Amino acid sequence: MSGRTPVRTGVVGFGYWGPNIVRNLDKLGDAELVVACDANAANLARFSALYPDVATTDDICDMLAAHDLDAVVVATSAPSHFALAKLVLEAGKHCYVEKPLTLTSEDAEELVRLAEERELVLMVGHLMVYHSAVNYIKDVIGSGTLGDVLYLYSQRLNLGKVRTEENAFWSLAPHDVSIVHYLLDEIPSQVSATGAAYLNGGVEDTVFANLHFPSGRMANIHVSWLDPHKTRKFTIVGSKKMLVFDDMQATEKVWIYDKGVEPKEALGYGEDLTLRFGDISVPYLHMAEPLALEIQHFLDCCTTGQVPRSDGRDGLAVVRVLEAVDESMRQGGAPVSTGLPES
Ligand SMILES: NC(=O)c1ccc[n+]([C@@H]2O[C@H](COP(=O)([O-])OP(=O)(O)OC[C@H]3O[C@@H](n4cnc5c(N)ncnc54)[C@H](O)[C@@H]3O)[C@@H](O)[C@H]2O)c1
Repeated sequence: MSGRTPVRTGVVGFGYWGPNIVRNLDKLGDAELVVACDANAANLARFSALYPDVATTDDICDMLAAHDLDAVVVATSAPSHFALAKLVLEAGKHCYVEKPLTLTSEDAEELVRLAEERELVLMVGHLMVYHSAVNYIKDVIGSGTLGDVLYLYSQRLNLGKVRTEENAFWSLAPHDVSIVHYLLDEIPSQVSATGAAYLNGGVEDTVFANLHFPSGRMANIHVSWLDPHKTRKFTIVGSKKMLVFDDMQATEKVWIYDKGVEPKEALGYGEDLTLRFGDISVPYLHMAEPLALEIQHFLDCCTTGQVPRSDGRDGLAVVRVLEAVDESMRQGGAPVSTGLPES
């Protein structure tokens, strides 16, 4: 708690993920949880049982009209994000929206424009850019320890949760795409992707996407909710060292391998290219709950006017990549431009 006046906050959406956000808002001293809104009566009753002193409503318009709020968190399913966030920004409130920001880049652009015109905070729930391990990795890359990052790949796999409103890439990959943008400080200009809908017609449950960057670097993202193993793994191959981030490990999440391939001149002996096998280091990381860090960051931005790390423009860039992946899948894996970076 910072001693600042708490940010008077309302939350829309108390389904699967909303309760985690509410738990953090409730415990962080910089927020005052004023009102919760959910269209589903059973979910609203569940909220009231946990937070009997907090007001509830089933209509966001009532919520915005009846309560003096500084900020609203939108934690509803993705198709409703645009309409709800637009109402929040038009009412002059700072807005946090769960990922993905919207389902189209046109809608995301409109939210970014609204927030910028009204000087309001618009933040997207790109949770992983607040993860202690991801921030440690960003520092490792920045220090040059890995050399030049050549390519990286990410696997986010599990059996379930099977969704029908959005495909596995829209549901899971906003995390991976936002991590890649954050770590590389670069956004892909082109993608190619293939996917398959084994469970529900038209809704891909398994997707392999290749992202190509103006620098020549590549990233591959594999997501699926039809897989025997729960996997949350990131591998980064640099010119000097390689790094693996395994988020399924309780403590030893980051492994740095002093492995590489050296030209003969560097070692002075051997074949033209010589494999180098060195030490493996597993750094100690101080871990905090990423969602608590993320929500605290939102509250800090509301108070100070700071631009969030995952702001509306970041949300828009991720949506552009998701759209391009969909288009590439429709075209059987053909390369599709993301229209990024914008000139
Ligand atoms: N960051 C993460 O790791 C993470 C994890 C899971 C889900 N999410 C995101 O959280 C969001 C919610 O996902 P979920 O799994 O909790 O969905 P959910 O369907 O379980 O819950 C959504 C809730 O919103 C309510 N709702 C929908 N439209 C509404 C409206 N117009 N007005 C009021 N209430 C409305 C529903 O009644 C429901 O209670 C999604 O954007 C999802 O991508 C993020």
